[in-house]
Amino acid sequence: MRTIHIAASREYDVVIGRGLLGELGSRAAEVLRGRSCAVVSDSNVAPIYMEATLASLRAAGFAAEPYVIPAGEASKCGRVYLELLNFLAEKKLTRADALIALGGGVVGDLTGFAAATYLRGVDFVQIPTTLLACVDSSVGGKTAIDLSAGKNLVGAFYQPNLVLCDLDALDTLPEAVFADGCAEVIKYGMLGSAELLDRLAERHAREQLEYVVAKCVEMKRDVVEGDEFDTGRRQLLNLGHTFAHAIEASSDYAIPHGRAVAMGMDVITRAAVRKGLCPAECLTILEKLLAAHGLPLRTDCSAETLASLALSDKKRKGGTITLVVPERYGESGLHTVPVGELIDWAQAGLEA
Ligand code: NAD
Ligand code: GLY
Repeated sequence: MRTIHIAASREYDVVIGRGLLGELGSRAAEVLRGRSCAVVSDSNVAPIYMEATLASLRAAGFAAEPYVIPAGEASKCGRVYLELLNFLAEKKLTRADALIALGGGVVGDLTGFAAATYLRGVDFVQIPTTLLACVDSSVGGKTAIDLSAGKNLVGAFYQPNLVLCDLDALDTLPEAVFADGCAEVIKYGMLGSAELLDRLAERHAREQLEYVVAKCVEMKRDVVEGDEFDTGRRQLLNLGHTFAHAIEASSDYAIPHGRAVAMGMDVITRAAVRKGLCPAECLTILEKLLAAHGLPLRTDCSAETLASLALSDKKRKGGTITLVVPERYGESGLHTVPVGELIDWAQAGLEA
């Protein structure tokens, strides 16, 4: 078991290990003010883990109400968000009470945003149940819902009080969902860790899960502690994401986030190689790792689609957009380019 402390505007621990769900109640009791909470989960996760979650909370003296949303990105929307807020109000949760997110990034982002805004902010625990949520979305305090104009366009920076990362939960993940998380893991290697890339080249992420999750969380901690509100280095965590969000949107969110990140990283790395900003071996290594982890490399989107959809992304600032560009093995940098040049990057990234 590992505990990683995050010293952000709210300080909290990320606890990583096996068999942790049973400890939820006692650990939550140490960090939460009140003894009432709502546990938000989705229609796939709740049937497997809700009962054990409620039992652990209740054994520690919490009054815990379950709330289940339909699984899938479509639930990260204004309607589901308002329904959740109304549920909290009906159950008379007070400012001293808490929300518990039990699920992947969809449940975590939605519940986090509800926690940030209900009664102007209540306590919040993340129990990530996907690899993606363990290594990325549960840590760092980005919460959001989507608009029809694009992903994550409404949200708040709102840190949890505790992240309980029970690796046993990943055992029930469908293979493709586990692979989605691997895309974010490979992202961490590409943006800042040759050691992680080396380890992934030797062994599949699944075979070294505790190391992989802890390594990514430590890297995220370092970035978030230095730039919690995403004005500088935190943007590095968006490697592959500018084009990934365009790929997701073009498929009407049928392509999951992780797979889109894999394709988005391939586009930006290929473009960086074509522009002479990155050695060709980085693209070769990236593609080998993506393939070994069951991830797609190439997108069917045209350069025009990628560029136009990427421009409605929130990473655009006026007439410029900041791209995260691989520069060396295990190292990426930020490049701010005029929006008019994005099409050129997309074209270079789609070349054979
Ligand atoms: P998800 O939450 O939709 O989960 C994927 C699927 O796996 C769902 O069908 C879910 O029901 C199922 N599932 C989850 N845990 C399971 C388990 N243990 N066993 C069986 N099935 C399980 O998707 P995700 O990939 O976890 O998250 C994607 C979301 O995260 C996107 O909305 C993305 O924008 C967001 N995200 C946020 C951040 C952040 O910093 N806040 C970072 C990265 C991604
Ligand atoms: N997943 C990007 C971030 O947390 O900044």
